[in-house]
Amino acid sequence: MNVLVITGSNRKHATSTRLAEYAAQLIREKGHDAVLFNLYETPLPFYAPDEKMEDNTHVAELKSRMLEAKAVILATPEYHGSISGVLKNALDHLGQSYFSGKPVLSISSSGGAVGVSSLLQLQAIVRNLHGINAPEWISIGGSQRRRFEATYDGYEEYEGSSDIEERVQRVVGSFLQLAQALNPDQKP
Ligand SMILES: Cc1cc2nc3c(=O)[nH]c(=O)nc-3n(C[C@H](O)[C@H](O)[C@H](O)COP(=O)(O)O)c2cc1C
Repeated sequence: MNVLVITGSNRKHATSTRLAEYAAQLIREKGHDAVLFNLYETPLPFYAPDEKMEDNTHVAELKSRMLEAKAVILATPEYHGSISGVLKNALDHLGQSYFSGKPVLSISSSGGAVGVSSLLQLQAIVRNLHGINAPEWISIGGSQRRRFEATYDGYEEYEGSSDIEERVQRVVGSFLQLAQALNPDQKP
C-alpha cells in the first residue's frame, strides 16, 4: 500500500517532520510504501483560485503523489492553536477528489503538553475534504519533542522516551489496519 506523508513545517529540523519520518519508517518496516512530501524542501506557491498552477512542478508533484496514495498522514507544528500556514496552503491546492474515501492520520508537535487544537482543526479540514479521519491521532509536546530533535542521538535516555515510541508504533499500526480494511486488494 502506498502511504503519502505530508510534512507541514517550514523549518529545517522540525520535530513534526522527524516524527512523520519515524512514522514513515514504521510503515516501511511493515512492508508498505511510505512517500514523504516535505513542504520545507518542496515549497508550494500561495494558492490563488484565479490562477492555473498546473505548470508549477511542486504543485504537480503533490497532486500526482496524492492520486497515487491509498492513505495519507498529515503532520503539522501547532501554531497559534491551529495548523501551520504552509500545510493549510498545501491542502487548499487539493480538493475532495484527492482525499475522498482515503484514511488520514493527523499528527502534531507543540510547545505545550499536547497539540490537540491543531489536530482538531486538521480533522475538521479532512472531514471537509471527504477523507476518513483515523480514530486515533498523535501529538508530541513539551519535553517529549526531545526524541525528535536533530541533536537526539538515539542513545540518550530521558523520561518517557520509550513511551513515545510505543505510542507512535501503536497508533501507526492501528492506522495501517484501518487503511488495509478500506483497501483489501492492497498487499504490503
Ligand atoms: C508562530 C508560532 C506559533 C506557535 N503557537 C503555539 C501554540 O499555540 N501552542 C503551543 O503549544 N505551541 C506553539 N508554538 C510552539 C510550537 O508548536 C513548537 O515549537 C513546535 O514543536 C514546533 O514544531 P516543529 O518542531 O515541527 O517546528 C508556536 C510556535 C510558533 C513559531
